[in-house]
Amino acid sequence: MAHQHVAGKHPRSNARWSPLPYHLPSWAIRFGAHLDRELQFQHWIAISTKNSFVRGDHLYPAHYALLYFTKGAPSHFKRPKVNPPACRHCGQLVKDYGGYRRIIEEKRLNLSDFWDDLSPVRHRNRKYLTTNELPSLLFERVIEISGSRDLLYVDPFAGSGSGVIAAARAGLRFQACDFIEKNCLIICERLDELKTRQSREGR
Ligand SMILES: C[S@@+](CC[C@H](N)C(=O)[O-])C[C@H]1O[C@@H](n2cnc3c(N)ncnc32)[C@H](O)[C@@H]1O
Repeated sequence: MAHQHVAGKHPRSNARWSPLPYHLPSWAIRFGAHLDRELQFQHWIAISTKNSFVRGDHLYPAHYALLYFTKGAPSHFKRPKVNPPACRHCGQLVKDYGGYRRIIEEKRLNLSDFWDDLSPVRHRNRKYLTTNELPSLLFERVIEISGSRDLLYVDPFAGSGSGVIAAARAGLRFQACDFIEKNCLIICERLDELKTRQSREGR
């Protein structure tokens, strides 16, 4: 996924873009080295992934990497707040925050670069694709951090279109593709559903 901010007359020379490749760490390190030649590194976000398998002489792979690069300083940046983790049985906060509990309850936590509350969509009832599908929350966070209505969201590997839907909901323009036609049809259907829902809600 990437954001592109096209400023000035010549899109090529003035285009500010922010690629956010998402992959296994072994690929992320290669993409990162390549992008680092021309762009500014902002973040390596570790996103937990469950149900992986140990392969060869390696530790259990528990995260994917979401890289965030920008051309020049980020044109937009927002640090989202998230709810502190709570016990799903009693609802109490899991940590005591060393005496700052009240403040954390009131102001919530700053989002860190370790997202362990997300994982690819695995549940058959909630999946549009049979292959790897990412949760909408991942895209919503990315757009909240670095998006704005004047940006173009580009997703060349759009899959089920979770990123496209998040961009459309946030009011961004978007361009997306996938080389499996069925996936493109799923995206169109999801966009139609969104449009119907929004017009029903008067938006
Ligand atoms: C991991 S899935 C993307 C999942 C997507 N982010 C979602 O949440 O549903 C990767 C997608 O890239 C597509 N793809 C792989 N190689 C491609 C290529 N060369 N051109 C276009 N799409 C490609 C696949 O069909 C697949 O749907």
